[in-house]
Amino acid sequence: MERVEDVKIGLEVHIPITSVETKLFCSCRNTSRYKPSKPNQYVCPVCLGLPGALPRPNEKAVYMALKTAKALRCRLTHILQFYRKHYFYPDLPKGYQITQFKAGGYAPLGEDGVLMLQGGKTIRIRRVQIEEDPAKLIHPGGLGESDRVLIDYNRSGNPLIEIVTEPDLSSPREAREFLDKLIRILTDIGVLDKKIDVVIRADANISIGGSARIEIKNIGSPKDVEKALEFEKLRLERYVKEGIKTVQETRHWDDRRRVTVSIREKEVEEEYRYFPDPNIPPINIKYLIEEIKREEILLEDDMYLYLIELGVRSNYAEVISRDKELYDTFNRVIKRLGISGDKGFIDKSAGLFVNEGKRLIKESGLSYEKLGELIYSILLMVKEGLLTFEEAREKLLQKRVHKPIIGDRDLEAIINEVITRTEILGGEAKNYIIGEVLRKVGEKGFRADPKKVAEVVDSRIGEIVKTKEVVEVKEEVYMPVEYRESIARRKISISDAFLLREGECILTGWIESKMDLGRKLFIILRDWSGRIQLVVNRQNENYEFIRKLPREAFIKVEGSLHEDRRAPDGVEVHVNNIQLLSEIHSPPLSLLDLARSSIPIRLKYRYLDIRRRYMRSILSFRSKLLQAIREYLIKDGFVEINTPKIITTATEGGAELFPFIYYGREAFLAQSPQLYKQMAINAFEKVFEIDSYYRAQKYDTPRHLAEFWSIDIEVALYTLDDLLKLIEDLIINVSRRVRVLAKEELKVLDKKIPRLSKPFKRITYSKAVEIIRDRGVKIRFGEDFGADHLKVLGKKFRKPFFIIYWPSNIRAFYYKRLPENPKLTLSFDLIYPLKSSYPLELSSGGERINTVEELRRSIREKGLREESYTWYLEMFKYGMPPHAGFGLGLDRLVMALLQLDTILDTVLSPRTPRYSRP
Ligand code: 4AD
Ligand code: MG
Repeated sequence: MERVEDVKIGLEVHIPITSVETKLFCSCRNTSRYKPSKPNQYVCPVCLGLPGALPRPNEKAVYMALKTAKALRCRLTHILQFYRKHYFYPDLPKGYQITQFKAGGYAPLGEDGVLMLQGGKTIRIRRVQIEEDPAKLIHPGGLGESDRVLIDYNRSGNPLIEIVTEPDLSSPREAREFLDKLIRILTDIGVLDKKIDVVIRADANISIGGSARIEIKNIGSPKDVEKALEFEKLRLERYVKEGIKTVQETRHWDDRRRVTVSIREKEVEEEYRYFPDPNIPPINIKYLIEEIKREEILLEDDMYLYLIELGVRSNYAEVISRDKELYDTFNRVIKRLGISGDKGFIDKSAGLFVNEGKRLIKESGLSYEKLGELIYSILLMVKEGLLTFEEAREKLLQKRVHKPIIGDRDLEAIINEVITRTEILGGEAKNYIIGEVLRKVGEKGFRADPKKVAEVVDSRIGEIVKTKEVVEVKEEVYMPVEYRESIARRKISISDAFLLREGECILTGWIESKMDLGRKLFIILRDWSGRIQLVVNRQNENYEFIRKLPREAFIKVEGSLHEDRRAPDGVEVHVNNIQLLSEIHSPPLSLLDLARSSIPIRLKYRYLDIRRRYMRSILSFRSKLLQAIREYLIKDGFVEINTPKIITTATEGGAELFPFIYYGREAFLAQSPQLYKQMAINAFEKVFEIDSYYRAQKYDTPRHLAEFWSIDIEVALYTLDDLLKLIEDLIINVSRRVRVLAKEELKVLDKKIPRLSKPFKRITYSKAVEIIRDRGVKIRFGEDFGADHLKVLGKKFRKPFFIIYWPSNIRAFYYKRLPENPKLTLSFDLIYPLKSSYPLELSSGGERINTVEELRRSIREKGLREESYTWYLEMFKYGMPPHAGFGLGLDRLVMALLQLDTILDTVLSPRTPRYSRP
């Protein structure tokens, strides 16, 4: 079984060789080393790719790439062969990039290497090769927005090393560690110039257990690689956990919004038409390899292994091997002491260097040389038994030079600064402030008496806990700012903000609540995905304006994300700027008021009511339920149809039609798609429609809508038994799926979808009548069940159950009769008991009459006019397959699964005899 924790990450890194003077195939300046002052400054026919210009490989660059391959312990090739990789893009005027390739007996400079991470984990290196950098494309105004592109060829032809790993990395953290170490190695061996900022371009691919492989392109730094992978990992985890299928795709790291976005699905297998570059013959580079062997390169890993052999424990070895000077000093001292072989002694000595030694260098500014002398003299005494290691440690610490005590004025300034910056309240604030003050004092190179700091903070603490509620001014109106830029593409959702946790961002949303602390204003911002705390500083130039904005104003927020455990859910936004994007009047009711209001008030302000998490969750649950139903039916071979909603014939009995004038004639709103879904059986075997239908029934119950939505199904060749099995499977599968799809919504609503198992109980209408009578409730045979009758049955069965074989006098005309008893129909109702109210009739259906004669008789029996059904009757003359079907109320299904008290809350804007607005 694959598990979500099985994270596989691979990297492809491009690193410009900053240590060489010229480009890879010409003598133009290498612009990764020499910064040009204007675009297209360092170019020539070769790096512009002009016809007839011939490349000459740069030996120094090849040497550096080879050295990299060696440092990564690769198998080296002896013959250097360049290949052409063809693709059409303006960054590459030749139409191909000169790079390397494994084919025809040739190979990249290095293959099958390794890089060791902290703790000894090895990451396999697939290949190291050298290639030319393409030009830089500039999209004025941003990718996608820009109507033109500028090309700067300064970068074109720069020497580049490409390093590709196997997917051995198992966390974003490790990917960053890998890159950091890679850069350290390249700097140590002189490929990267210490004085020049390192710029990398990395592509990362990641998959987690159960997900597709995702490639993220063009990330600019090790830190961003970690961020991008973290984002992507969370995204994939969420998808896998919720059972949403992930597809293999290429994504782009948007470093402005710091999210990944899809560029294309399924990387197409590009045809690069590689072939050896005929302008550069194969070159024997054995002499370069010999040269590299002679050059003694001491790598971090070599130092580490050497220390381990000496007897130094791994975490000490780690620290020492990363600091070449410390390593040399340590080795010198150990040699001079003549204690080789005494592993215990060597390890304890290393401890002195790593702990006390590093501290002396950092805090007291001791040079490595002085430190060496000092530790040598002390260790000599230990060796001769004059001191224990414990005493040696103390002696070393005595050499510490103490920092001076900070002056009162400076201390006060720091305390003031920390207090103004602190947003927390209550008991926690004090310790936090004291800690911050002491840290800042230390940073400035001083120390302070903690007792004194505590006293000052204590005397000032009253200032920070003073709070006052913002008083809203009645009926004030604010107008929005001009809205021109595309915010939608630049802003992130609040749920993404919680994934990112830090850095600049743009958010939009409604002001849910505000709290003014005098120095600061706290706002809870809400959007479609969640809620987050905003912090606005008194210093903000818009402070007064923002402070006065009424609740529910829709705003744009620019600021930075900060992790803070005092904030709700641990992240908050420090606001730089807030703009009002909506007109806003003081709202008549808060969302909280609405939550406590009656249905008429809530419907009156429905546009506010649906901002509430409760309503949003129900509507979103409904959407996911629909998704699940469509998925299930389409997978099962159903075809979705659309039937007319303007009809001229009653389908479910004449009394409940809404009539209207249709071009001077009478027409009706469809009660159901009944006649038309049957019609569709002439084209398809299995059909469904999900749409709204209209019933002019006078019931004003929590279960009836004048406009309701139904999942209507019709299937050729199905019997009643087949139908019952279909609806059982449909409801059970859809419940299971929506439990996953709507996990968040269910959490908010605090609801659990009941687990059902099949078969649902089946009873006949006659049996139901018996049961009802047994309970002392009156009922005639052939009478339709009312709410009280269903209640008796609901109490008995508790779980969903079928009532089958209904008398024909209470069913619509199109239901087929039982062959042995024409008074009964091959029909069913599915009843769903609710915990706190009457049971719901969720669905009705059955087999259909399919001969013209029988239909005629049934229509006449019901007192309907045969002329109204002419086309319907005709239809059965020409090879109409036998069929059956049902209608399943969508609003009632939502109500049942969520156990809601009223059907009104399952729709955006319900229609009933009482409500036709908004
Ligand atoms: O039981 P009904 O009237 O059956 C039909 O419309 C048939 N054409 C079905 C068939 O294929 N034979 O309506 C089907 C379902 C009901 O069980 C109920 O769930 C829902 O539609 N329904 C309503 N829901 C809310 N408000 C109303 N006024 C509803 N009327 C029916
Ligand atoms: Mg019914």
